[in-house]
Amino acid sequence: MTSTPNAIPEILTHVDAGVMTLTINRLDKKNSLTAAMYAAMADALESAHHDTAVRALVIQGHESIFSAGNDIGDFLNKPPSTADAPVFRFLRGISSFSKPIVAAVCGPAVGIGTTMLLHCDLIYAGDNAAFSLPFVNLGLCPEAASSYLAPKLMGYPRAAEALLLGEPFRAETALEMGLINRIVPPAEASALAQQQARKLAAKPLSSLIETKRLMKKGQASIVAERMVEEGASFGRMLAEPAAREAFTAFMDKRRPDFSKV
Ligand code: COA
Repeated sequence: MTSTPNAIPEILTHVDAGVMTLTINRLDKKNSLTAAMYAAMADALESAHHDTAVRALVIQGHESIFSAGNDIGDFLNKPPSTADAPVFRFLRGISSFSKPIVAAVCGPAVGIGTTMLLHCDLIYAGDNAAFSLPFVNLGLCPEAASSYLAPKLMGYPRAAEALLLGEPFRAETALEMGLINRIVPPAEASALAQQQARKLAAKPLSSLIETKRLMKKGQASIVAERMVEEGASFGRMLAEPAAREAFTAFMDKRRPDFSKV
């Protein structure tokens, strides 16, 4: 078993039996993601892409929380402003990653915690998983091509409910929508993801890569274009009054007041 050089304490990576495992590890802040964490995840994806010893990737959080989404303090103080920003590097990396990605998701998966799953291949959820896309509630708009992929996957009415209302939905709903593969007790999700990734790693890599490429061929350029368009709107909206009010309210632990925005 080897560790990859780009690991930081909040993003742990190791390679074993052909599988790179990336663990989000910032429990005191509910695994919310900072610019440094996106950079480490983007680096890990790049390393996994080039490393011939890596044949599949597992992404996981903790049994109690997958990720609370973007760090809201970062949104306030160092919002991503260019296409080179670590969050956009990470999104480009995961959406175009050629090898299979298996995710283990337990507890809340907020914002990018859910949208990154739209770019994973196999997803195993704990029965405590709660998915949410609260971009509107934060004065923002969707990212990670979720404005395209969510309606495509769930159907427009359910995507509208998830993206316009931004209310969490449980693992059973996610399974019914086709967002995830299976629901298991939280203590079993990581082991199941690992087991499935090892099965994939034992298969011919060229076949895995070509099969994934062919399955995604119809949407690859639409996804890339949509991410650019969403990124431009998202970047602009981060600085606008609705988002500033939402972030300040979160930091001050109060309800946002959108009556003037
Ligand atoms: N960014 C920064 N800090 C965050 C965070 C985020 N996205 N989510 C949680 N935290 C921090 C809290 O501020 C708190 O810090 P503190 O202990 O210093 O006060 C700590 O993590 C624990 O969070 P708390 O809200 O008390 O945990 P909870 O178990 O009651 O709820 C969540 C968990 C994930 C449901 C809740 O934290 C939440 O809704 N977070 C915001 C999610 C969000 O809007 N993300 C942006 C998506 S684009």
